[in-house]
Amino acid sequence: MTEYNAPSNIAKPGGVIGILGGGQLARMLAMAAAQIGHKTHIFCPDARCPAADVCATITNAPYTDEAALRQFAKTVDVVTYEFENVPAETVSFLTECGAIVRPGARALEKAQDRLHEKDFLNQIGVATAAYHGVDDLHSLEAGLAKVGRPAILKTRRLGYDGKGQTTLTDSDQDLPGAYDKAIQFAWDEVGAAPSILEGFVPFQCEISIIGARSADGDIRLYDPVENVHRSGILKTSTVPTAITEATAQKAAAIASSILSALDYVGVIGVEFFVLSNGELIVNEFAPRVHNSGHWTSDACAISQFEQHIRAVAGWPLGDPARHSDAVMENLIGSEAAAWQSLAAEPNACLHLYGKSEARPDRKMGHVTRIS
Ligand SMILES: Nc1ncnc2c1ncn2[C@@H]1O[C@H](COP(=O)(O)OP(=O)(O)O)[C@@H](O)[C@H]1O
Ligand SMILES: [Mg+2]
Repeated sequence: MTEYNAPSNIAKPGGVIGILGGGQLARMLAMAAAQIGHKTHIFCPDARCPAADVCATITNAPYTDEAALRQFAKTVDVVTYEFENVPAETVSFLTECGAIVRPGARALEKAQDRLHEKDFLNQIGVATAAYHGVDDLHSLEAGLAKVGRPAILKTRRLGYDGKGQTTLTDSDQDLPGAYDKAIQFAWDEVGAAPSILEGFVPFQCEISIIGARSADGDIRLYDPVENVHRSGILKTSTVPTAITEATAQKAAAIASSILSALDYVGVIGVEFFVLSNGELIVNEFAPRVHNSGHWTSDACAISQFEQHIRAVAGWPLGDPARHSDAVMENLIGSEAAAWQSLAAEPNACLHLYGKSEARPDRKMGHVTRIS
């Protein structure tokens, strides 16, 4: 372990950043950490994960392996994670072993459970879709009476890229028995798991803000981006957006209040729905670097990845100002096979994640076109 002077300044150059998870986000975090002199130690069950190619050390073990976690905690200056579904027990065990985990358990607990997340947002005065906790068919019916149709039923935990979600429309209400069937179908679709029913938000567009908070409470935000999804998966992020300055300022204020309320350290991604009157509804937040922030690698001096490493290492945050306009496009499934033409395109910054198998819906890389 490296020495440190102040509790916030915990990893000097040459220090070791521990990362739970080894996907493309961990890969890009590890490359950013290396740029400012850190080493990374990846903890991931999968030996062939994208981050394996670029880290100094990797431990391949289940997140429940206490001996491996204890050893991991000994070798790192600080621990962070690349996905919000790391088991809470893993984080509390690492903390018991003396590791500093950033962002902390509070942010993780809120972000892991869509119901707790929405309760938290409303408690701090941030508007969300109307929602109702669902544990069975009875509470699903009560939820429909409360939020109306169309509505979206989502599992409380473990959903991503639109998985674990189903929509209840109002088209099937009139047929005899159709209502009961539709409810049963939706409940089966989410695997009869504890869920949340959300009223459908008739948004004009979706935006997100990538923000960071340092250990001493400094907050820096990147420009808002407009996001377009395809089959529940992010397809493009475009910056600048067409939203008004007033809406952008409101979004920035909301992102800041979430960071402060969570006593957050690190980068966060906050997703918003923008209504036609310019009002904002928060959809969700991710306690980590975010896919809609990938453009920062090529259009800002300090990327979201470096910003996150700076924050968790106790460093001063970098300048999030944007030097270029950018459109980030995810390369999903077979789309990355076009790497040769993408590589030949002017002003296109190609990022490939080193995944060998291009399954449909799998994020293989992204390209950011700057101007
Ligand atoms: N309440 C809602 N109203 C309208 N659209 C929604 C709602 N919830 C989700 N969506 C759409 O589905 C996408 C994925 O949902 P989200 O809750 O962000 O799940 P995930 O965790 O999979 O990203 C959103 O970006 C949005 O396009
Ligand atoms: Mg989302």
